[in-house]
Amino acid sequence: MNNISFGIDIGGSGIKGARVNLDDGEFVGEQVKIATPKPATPDAVAETVAEILRQEKWDGPVGITLPSVVKDQVARSAANIDPSWIGTNVNELFRRHLGDREISVLNDADAAGLAEVSFGDPAAATGAVIFLTFGTGIGSAFLIDAHLFPNTEIGHLLVGRKKAEHQASSAVKDREELSFKKWSKRVSKVLAEYERLFSPRLFIVGGGISGDHERWIPLLTVETPVIPAKLLNRAGIVGAAMAVTTHLAP
Ligand code: BGC
Repeated sequence: MNNISFGIDIGGSGIKGARVNLDDGEFVGEQVKIATPKPATPDAVAETVAEILRQEKWDGPVGITLPSVVKDQVARSAANIDPSWIGTNVNELFRRHLGDREISVLNDADAAGLAEVSFGDPAAATGAVIFLTFGTGIGSAFLIDAHLFPNTEIGHLLVGRKKAEHQASSAVKDREELSFKKWSKRVSKVLAEYERLFSPRLFIVGGGISGDHERWIPLLTVETPVIPAKLLNRAGIVGAAMAVTTHLAP
């Protein structure tokens, strides 16, 4: 087992990391989770990442996800994280806290999409596929024959009068105490708009709520097939670990 890498997934409530076996996409040992510091400023978050790596005694390359646009290794948006991330050169930031090693930072949904393509349903790797994560926001990864077009951010697309993620994320379902029936109508409306604009051959839906997929995927009314993600909450970490090994640094 020498094809091992390390992935870190930075989320609003927790920062999680694990060694990943890149031959099968499984974790090697347990994942470590530390609560996201408050406020989640770049330095505080980077120090938490350093703590995870110290605990795990990992000094090799690290892939890291962020819930923001990452272009040329600079964070360009901060929808659900501290605004001070905008304009931060994340590669420099993590290098300062983690020492001189290879680091790739990428959007969380992009990382999860890449992981699904490699270790999820084989259908994910063929043709035009839109991968979506439903959580605090709606994250997206556009995939064409297993290649990623990064930073698509269609959770921020206006559908009707509101952004997609402000009406159909799983956080909105919780906040408004929507039943699966009511919430799935909103998801259908959002997917119908994505279908109209991008005509993918497949939607793959991830995020924690995809664990309950039997309760809502059958209620969706779009024509395009919708399948649940296979890796569930493991996807971000696995995709991050893959990104650094393939030197992907959008
Ligand atoms: C952010 C995306 C992120 C998604 C899921 C959105 O609000 O803009 O960058 O991928 O949430 O975390």
